[in-house]
Amino acid sequence: MIADISTIFNKKLDDKQVSIRGWIYRHRTSGNMVFAVVRDPSGIIQVTAKKDKLNEKNWKDANDAYVESSIIVKGTVKKDERAPGGYEIQATEFELVSRGEPFPISKDLSEEFLLDVRHLWVRSQKMTNIMKARHHIVNYLREFYEKDGFYEIAPPIITKSGCEGGSTLFEMDYFGEKAYLTQSSQMYAEVFIFSLGKVYVFAPSFRAEKSRTIRHLAEYWHLEPEMAYYDHKMNMEHQENMVQHVVEKMIKEHPELLKECGRDPLDLEKVKKPFERMEYKDAVDRVNELGGKMEWGEDFGADEEALLTKEIEKPIFIEKYPKNIKAFYMKEDPQNPELVLNNDLLAPRGHGEIIGGSERIWDYEELLTRMKEQNLNLKDYQWYLDLRKYGSVPHSGYGLGVERFVKWILNLHHIRDTIPFPRTITRCYP
Ligand code: 4AD
Repeated sequence: MIADISTIFNKKLDDKQVSIRGWIYRHRTSGNMVFAVVRDPSGIIQVTAKKDKLNEKNWKDANDAYVESSIIVKGTVKKDERAPGGYEIQATEFELVSRGEPFPISKDLSEEFLLDVRHLWVRSQKMTNIMKARHHIVNYLREFYEKDGFYEIAPPIITKSGCEGGSTLFEMDYFGEKAYLTQSSQMYAEVFIFSLGKVYVFAPSFRAEKSRTIRHLAEYWHLEPEMAYYDHKMNMEHQENMVQHVVEKMIKEHPELLKECGRDPLDLEKVKKPFERMEYKDAVDRVNELGGKMEWGEDFGADEEALLTKEIEKPIFIEKYPKNIKAFYMKEDPQNPELVLNNDLLAPRGHGEIIGGSERIWDYEELLTRMKEQNLNLKDYQWYLDLRKYGSVPHSGYGLGVERFVKWILNLHHIRDTIPFPRTITRCYP
């Protein structure tokens, strides 16, 4: 029977005959024995091949195998305390499907080299675990919105109008006209609240970020819900529920995977709502108390976010930022016209911002005035203004940076490890 490696462990297939299809993870020869560790998508297992148990061709194949050669092994499962996981396969057949060439990745290679061979490095146990965890996190996100009655919509990637200011727009030549890779699908999500009520987009966003940091990508996956008749307070509650749902699911369904990725599930058990809400002005004071230096009207950078979150155990909302450092579409705070009804959500232990959200301006004149103040080219935003002309309603939404979310949940140091092919200021290959 062809078995997944994990089935051998889970079903304790002692003394059973199995056949596995995998790739060599480690390989060593010793006299009349070959010791191989074999991996498949589900796990790794030790295979021992003895000369007197194999035919001549199979014995040659077992000896010739390189790391990452593809193989099919048949044999008997045996308990062995010394083997990783407590089981090994004693081979009776060992066939090279493709020997290939010596694998270019060995131990202690530089990060830059590993990025050059990313298409091969993604086979590592580290990247395999992260990709599995990312998959589950994305599934739990979709599950959350599905259960809450959201529709997923497909936005355009090529756009005429930026959403988050001109400095990080990727410009492109669109048949002789200027166009941009989307910075955010928010405005297109807003279109659909009028027909579908609650919607979300899960798509890439692009930012021409000039800085090299551990949390910025030029291309990242953005999850952007938009909800009719939600105000600022409801918007934050929604974010809180979503974060708690995904974290709880990961702890419950995949505690081992979390550990493999470097996250103690116990740390995440503290992530229970309500999350603290702190106003921008108080957050500025907090930063200064903790030894930072910033003034009212400045935005938080990585250092300030690290100060705000280093000592906390669950995410924190920072809300009501000054209007003049935020995007044009955010609704003014009725209590203070200098502020907007927005929030960032910062992840604990220094991970920092994972979500940005706000209540949107839904009045036509108010939006027009704000766009003029920010010198936007109104021609490109006519369609967006139209939304406020025909049956406008209060609404709110937010954007979750999926890689930043994964980075925090898995407690990874660098955002590049959360995505198969990171795009940064210095890298667009492979
Ligand atoms: O705060 P941002 O810029 O907000 C928006 O784009 C809104 N239009 C979203 C909305 O309300 N629908 O970005 C939202 C999130 C950030 O909190 C961060 O998690 C992530 O997107 N993000 C990045 N992630 C990786 N690399 C970058 N360069 C990122 N820029 C933003």
